[in-house]
Amino acid sequence: SGPAVYQAEDATISQGVVESNHEGYTGTGFVNYDNVTGSYVEWTVNAAAAGPATLEFRFANGTTTNRAMTIAVNGTTVTRDFTGTGDWTTWQTVTVPADLVQGVNKIRATATTSNGGPNVDRLAV
Ligand code: GCU
Ligand code: CA
Ligand code: CA
Repeated sequence: SGPAVYQAEDATISQGVVESNHEGYTGTGFVNYDNVTGSYVEWTVNAAAAGPATLEFRFANGTTTNRAMTIAVNGTTVTRDFTGTGDWTTWQTVTVPADLVQGVNKIRATATTSNGGPNVDRLAV
């Protein structure tokens, strides 16, 4: 089977809103991060077994300014660029390698600039 999909609109959202006004999303919409530093989406991923995994974030950034985010996996953090995708209806992916634990994993994508994050559609694991 393919990767498990976790929609952003079903995750825990801090300083953001679920919207569906830009086409190309999957599920029922995407998260529009508030344009502030520290806005985030946090997913709970239940892993059947511990081990390495690839986290794939699907996003759109209709500006020409990078909206870097920190990606925290069970508290261990890396930073990724979320550069402009051309417009708000063009979606791309960014990946992060992670070591998951068996059971509950908390995966949080937090905006690092005052522009907030990009619009985020989903996480695939
Ligand atoms: C526009 C766009 C939003 C986006 C926002 C932003 O308002 O419609 O989807 O989140 O720009 O700059 O963050
Ligand atoms: Ca926004
Ligand atoms: Ca979605």
